[in-house]
Amino acid sequence: MSMAMVAFLVYFLLRLLFSCWILPIRAYRKIKKNGFEGPTPSFPLGNITDMKNTKNYVNDSSLRSSAAISHDLHSTVFPYFARWQKTHGKVFIYWLGTEPFLYIAEPEFLKKMSSGVLGKNWGKPSVFRRDRKAMFGRSGLVMVEGEDWVRHRHVITPAFSPANLKAMASLMVEPATNMLNRWTTLISCGQAEIDVEREITTTAGEIIARTSFGLSHQNGNKVFEKLRAAQTTLFNSNRYVGVPFSKWICPKKNHEATKLGHEIDQLLLSIIHARKQSWDESPQKDLLGLLMEGSHLDGRSGKSLTARELVDECKTFFFGGHETTALALTWTLLLLSLHPQWQHQLREEIKQVIGDEEIDFTRFAHLKKMEWVMKEVLRLYSPAPNAQRQAREDIKVDELVIPNGTNIWIDVVALHHDPTIWGGDVNEFRPERFKEDSLYGGCKHKMGFLPFGFGGRMCVGRNLTMMEYKVVLTLMLRRFSFSVSPNYRHSPSIMLSLRPKFGLPLIVKPL
Ligand code: HEM
Repeated sequence: MSMAMVAFLVYFLLRLLFSCWILPIRAYRKIKKNGFEGPTPSFPLGNITDMKNTKNYVNDSSLRSSAAISHDLHSTVFPYFARWQKTHGKVFIYWLGTEPFLYIAEPEFLKKMSSGVLGKNWGKPSVFRRDRKAMFGRSGLVMVEGEDWVRHRHVITPAFSPANLKAMASLMVEPATNMLNRWTTLISCGQAEIDVEREITTTAGEIIARTSFGLSHQNGNKVFEKLRAAQTTLFNSNRYVGVPFSKWICPKKNHEATKLGHEIDQLLLSIIHARKQSWDESPQKDLLGLLMEGSHLDGRSGKSLTARELVDECKTFFFGGHETTALALTWTLLLLSLHPQWQHQLREEIKQVIGDEEIDFTRFAHLKKMEWVMKEVLRLYSPAPNAQRQAREDIKVDELVIPNGTNIWIDVVALHHDPTIWGGDVNEFRPERFKEDSLYGGCKHKMGFLPFGFGGRMCVGRNLTMMEYKVVLTLMLRRFSFSVSPNYRHSPSIMLSLRPKFGLPLIVKPL
């Protein structure tokens, strides 16, 4: 018995040594042999200590006064990358725990790297897939790979067709109007300042819950609350992603997130089950309904999604869709408060295109200036500050080879703030740059503007976002004007997405 235990212990230690030490060293040597280098890592944290220290140092001296709001934010949100770039250039290796990552902020390298790889042949870093399982599940579109990704994308893409988006847009008006009515009440009670970030995030959560799985269902509300709780639990804690056994550094938080993840799954399964029961009487036109319809139709060609996969897709839509859109709107309100002339121009455009009547969604394509503003906001304050990949084959870039299995981290903030491709006014808010060049805003390189990612894995919800942005901003600008509160502290920071660390208090006045 004791011999068996000793044998097991030895086996366990050898496996541990292999996966935490030998495998990463092997991967590192291979990447180095191919000519990549970077900051020196230490075991078992890699470069995490350095990253945390740099972050603290910069945050302490971050801008505390709203008088000096700068949009030059790369060295504020990614101070370690900004520092390493000075020594190692725009392509280098760094380590999260025992996981090596290839950092890329060079558009030409990115173009060459991605040109020969199909969407289905890209992987997503295994370390993130494990870490974010409670949020996205195993089989949501963000996480799946290979033929599974093709099947999911095939079923999901038609759900975002223009006709379906129009049906979803009508689900957005009520939550947005409720929020604005609440603001009117607060203001009439004497409260002039409103934290619009908190307000918009809650409303965007309600909107995505309605458009994804129908808040009207009695379980919809519970799912929404638990999804928010899971996100806060996972991303508000001190994290050591990539460090062996990091789960055990915060076991309570991990247990809480797993438990919440499990409860959400059960609630969503019960919604799916109820939908299946009443399918013939009342099919619904939210995303879940459309996916079930798509699965149902595609079932004949063997391309359906299972109930488990549908659950993971609902979670993916919620996490991928609500905060990003809320932040696009939030940062827009900051920039419009700082640039009242643009606030005025958008209001005029809304008057001309939509008027004061009920919103006619078919007229949205004419809100051109609003589109320029949205793109400029996504450039300066990209809610998704990075994109990630994992090589599933050796990838050749000129003379270099990125070995199969390499994690890849694309620094979108760095690309969007790079003066060598955007010019000297890179950190200025100039929506008109998208007037002449509506796709790339005059950027010298096509890989320099990536708010929704790139290639076959580009964001599937980008048209839904555009619709929501226009609905909510139109309703807001028709009723209120916005200016920056003296209590606003400009400190953009990363919590998965790029957000204002201390919220966004604005002075809101009815028109
Ligand atoms: C301003 C809003 C949004 C931004 C900035 C954004 C950004 C992104 C980015 C950067 C990616 C990764 C692309 C890549 O790796 O190349 C992505 C993927 C994705 N997004 Fe969005 N997104 C937004 C809104 C939405 C919405 C509203 C939904 C759904 C309701 C959504 C669902 C997804 C999904 C499912 C993927 C995975 C696509 C795939 O891998 O095939 N996103 N998004």
